[in-house]
Amino acid sequence: MGKLQGKVAVITGGASGIGAATARLFVSEGAKVVLVDLNEEKGKAFESELKASQAEALFVKANITSEEDVANVFEQAVATFGKVDVVFNNAGIGRVTPTHDLDYAEWRNTVNVDLDGVFLVARASIREMLKAGGGVIVNTASMYGWVGSPGSAAYNAAKGGVVNLTRSLGLEYAEHNIRVNALCPGFIDTPIIPEESKQVLATMTPMKRLGQAEEMAKAVLFLASDDSSYMTGGSLVVDGGYTAQ
Ligand SMILES: NC(=O)c1ccc[n+]([C@@H]2O[C@H](COP(=O)([O-])OP(=O)(O)OC[C@H]3O[C@@H](n4cnc5c(N)ncnc54)[C@H](O)[C@@H]3O)[C@@H](O)[C@H]2O)c1
Repeated sequence: MGKLQGKVAVITGGASGIGAATARLFVSEGAKVVLVDLNEEKGKAFESELKASQAEALFVKANITSEEDVANVFEQAVATFGKVDVVFNNAGIGRVTPTHDLDYAEWRNTVNVDLDGVFLVARASIREMLKAGGGVIVNTASMYGWVGSPGSAAYNAAKGGVVNLTRSLGLEYAEHNIRVNALCPGFIDTPIIPEESKQVLATMTPMKRLGQAEEMAKAVLFLASDDSSYMTGGSLVVDGGYTAQ
């Protein structure tokens, strides 16, 4: 039996990268998945691919910064699969801009998606899980929620916020059977990383390579399943050794 047999998992950013790799692994562990993304083309194509392999999958287009869109995701998930057990709160954006050139609009947009959006999805998840009597939330932060780096002030501030939001929610709902933990990836080979940056980021990493989305998915499965049953409010840093330096 799979580690998520019969569970319903909502995955934001589910059309690409870490979210898509996690959806594949979750399905192979018996879960039904709700793929949530802004990118409708990729999301629908991935939904069709999963369904063609007999998996139960639903794509819902949503912007995680919209309260209305987020509410609709949970309505659709419950209408289609009857419940929500797991939420991988993972959609995010990132761009490198020196702080003295960082427009307030870009700051606001990054914090809006990477922190406010994570809050909106977490709040909607908790509302559903309180009704159901429990659940599991995995937020994607970053190793840059733990350490700083030049040129990513807004991203790093937002991801640091996600790490502490995770601690706070873990504490707040510990007695309600809702576990909340964060995944903190290092540099992972997904479309969020520009092709021309990959070599230099690999060089900056002690293991001298980028991580693979599938390696993140295994960590998410640990956090989402009963394998991590005594863990809440915590962060799992999976970064090829970067933050050990
Ligand atoms: N790849 C890395 O090196 C790395 C490192 C640390 C943390 N992360 C985090 O991992 C998460 C997933 O990133 P990824 O590497 O898989 O990148 P990705 O670009 O492949 O996937 C991100 C997905 O999120 C979606 N998305 C973006 N904004 C959205 C919004 N407002 N509403 C709904 N969907 C939205 C995108 O359409 C995309 O499909 C992000 O939170 C990112 O910050 C990535």
